[in-house]
Formats: sequence, structure tokens, C-alpha cells
Amino acid sequence: FDVTWDAAAAEKGGWPSFMSKEVSEEPEAIANTLRGRINNGAVEIPELDGLDGLFEGISRIVVIACGTAAYAGQVGKYAIEQWARIPVDVELAHEFRYRDPVIGPDTLVVSISQSGETMDTLMAVKFARERGARTLSICNTQGATIPRESDAVVYTHAGPEVAVASTKAFVAQIAALYLLALHVARVRGTMSAEAIAEQVDELEAVPTKIQRILDTESARITELAHWMADTRSVLFLGRHVGFPIALEGALKLKEISYIHAEGFAAGELKHGPIALIEPGQPVFVIVPSPRASALLHSKVVSTIEEIRARGARVIAIAEEGDAAVLPTADEVLRIPLAAPLIEPLLAVVPLHLFAMGLATAKGLDVDQPRNLAKSVTVE
Ligand code: G6P
Repeated sequence: FDVTWDAAAAEKGGWPSFMSKEVSEEPEAIANTLRGRINNGAVEIPELDGLDGLFEGISRIVVIACGTAAYAGQVGKYAIEQWARIPVDVELAHEFRYRDPVIGPDTLVVSISQSGETMDTLMAVKFARERGARTLSICNTQGATIPRESDAVVYTHAGPEVAVASTKAFVAQIAALYLLALHVARVRGTMSAEAIAEQVDELEAVPTKIQRILDTESARITELAHWMADTRSVLFLGRHVGFPIALEGALKLKEISYIHAEGFAAGELKHGPIALIEPGQPVFVIVPSPRASALLHSKVVSTIEEIRARGARVIAIAEEGDAAVLPTADEVLRIPLAAPLIEPLLAVVPLHLFAMGLATAKGLDVDQPRNLAKSVTVE
């Protein structure tokens, strides 16, 4: 199934920036990435037809990517390990290539790239092939170099992304990784058809849920970003799949608003980063659903209490109806209820809106941040 890229679609269409248009297209980017790959609760990826052999006998998966794509890979790791029961390592492409990694014919190297032209990622794919690994590319650009250099490709159908900071391509990359994880789970027999169908239902519900966040939270987030226009540093905390989302929230803020931002695993706070907390320090905390794991949820709530006690200004991203965050958080941004592995696709949306709101409040060009290029074709 192919989604045609229309040149007119690359225009702003009434939005103040490409980035605002592209964030508004996150629901569609996911819907288009799922389209044609789901049949009656089963995952059927036409590009992988006849390629079951690619997944047979593999003992591990190594995901390689740079920037935002690497964070999508980190989210994908949780799903692939949980569903397909294969160990996954996620590596920055430029680091992977310059050491002596243990890879071979039993390794599937999955590269992720919006442009399909990032030189660091391309060189890592070539290197993996030379070492005998199998290669699969997740890419948003039809016919780009990285998919051409790979044994297989699963395209994200996010449509052209013009703003330098990646948004809709990021959520589409996660959706593609989830499809891949469910596909591999079927090939390897690690999940029943019913269990796969349940996750497929959850995935299919994501576009509507993201739309709800865009409709209900955008105005508040923009307002929050305006109040915070003079902030010098913002921290982001998450646990489990919320951890890579914290990293993505921080990266987006650095990229377009030039504010110092760091993402941390919430559990790591006490091992160092808590020393950064001083009165007034804004901290975004991604709160996992209490329905999935009461334990994980309570740990994150106590993290909020700890940083609040030290004066942090906490902005929680929590599911609708989670009242435990109300007494401690200064602000609560709501996301609809979803299965645990689906939450990152929702929790990232307020963070994309926030980065955009803050850069806009500072009068910056959100589409063309200083010093950055959309596609880095040098090593
Ligand atoms: C550049 C962009 C980032 C992007 C990264 C990977 O550094 O500024 O926004 O995440 O490249 O790009 P790719 O096209 O490989 O996904």
C-alpha cells in the first residue's frame, strides 16, 4: 500500500509553521502508517511478505539511529522484547560503528531514519551488512539510500516532514516499530492471535486519542509555555516507556527553544540528578497509568513528592482520572486511557506542543532552528 506524496501537502496550509502543521498531523501519520497493514486484528505488512526467513534464527535485534529516531527505537525496544521476546539493544549509529560490536548472521539490525539519508545511520547499516547481519530499515522517504542498502524496509507513511525537529515522523516510527514487533511475535509464535488483536485495537485507537489531546490541551500548553518563556532549564522525568519520551521532550526543547533541557529515568534521580533541583525548577514528569502497574505509578508519584519538597515546579502528564497527582503537581496535562505500551504515543504529544509553544513565545523560528539541518548527510 502506498500513500502518494503530493507536493501541495508540503505547504503550510494555513498553519503558522510547518512544525505546527506537522504536530496537527500526528493522528494522520499514525493512521497512514497502520493503513493497509492490519487485517481483521492481524498484522500483515506487505513489504515483509515472503521475508519470514529474515526473522528466523535471530537471537537479537540491534536498533541503530540518531536523534529523535533513536528515541523511537528506545520505545520500540520495550514492545519488541515484551511481545516478540527477543533482546533488543538500541545504539546511536555513530557509536555503533566505531567500536567492535558483537553482531553476525543471527543479528537483525533495524535502522530508523526519517530522511533515509543520515550519513551516520547509513554507514552503520553498511557496516552491519559487512559483518553479516540482516538489515531492516524503518524509513519515511520512499526510495532513500538507507532502505536501498537494507534487506527489507517498512515505510512510515507520515508524509513529508519539513520542520527540522521531527514530530509526526517520530510517532509514525513508533507505530511502525510496534507493527514490526507484532509481526515478529506472530512469526516466532510468542503471542496468540487474540493477544495480537488486542494490541492492534489499541494501536488503531491512537489517532483519535491524539486528536483529543490536541483538541483539549493545546491552548493550556501554549499558555504554560508563555509563562515559562524566561525559563533557563527544564527537566523531564519518565520511567519504563516514559523514559525515552522524557529524552524526546528534552531534545525537542533544546532543538527549537535553545533552553537547557535534560531527560532522566525517574528512578535515576536519587543517584545524581536530584542535586539539580532547586526552588522554581520546572520538571515535567510522565506518570504511568496506575491501572497497568500500581507499583510503578506509586514510585513516580513519590518521585513527584520528593522533587516538590525541594521546590520543583512539577508539570505532570497523567492519564485522565488519575487523581493521585493532583495534590502534588502544579499542573496536570491529561492524556486518554491506553494500554501501557501505547502511552508513549500519547504522552509525547504535550511535549511536542510545549517545545513549540516555548520557541514561539521566545519569538524563534520553530521550523529552522539555528545550527541544525533536517538531514545530516555528513559524518
Ligand atoms: C538530524 C535532525 C534530527 C533527526 C536526526 C535523524 O539531526 O536534526 O531532528 O532526529 O537528524 O534524522 P533521520 O532523518 O535519520 O531520522
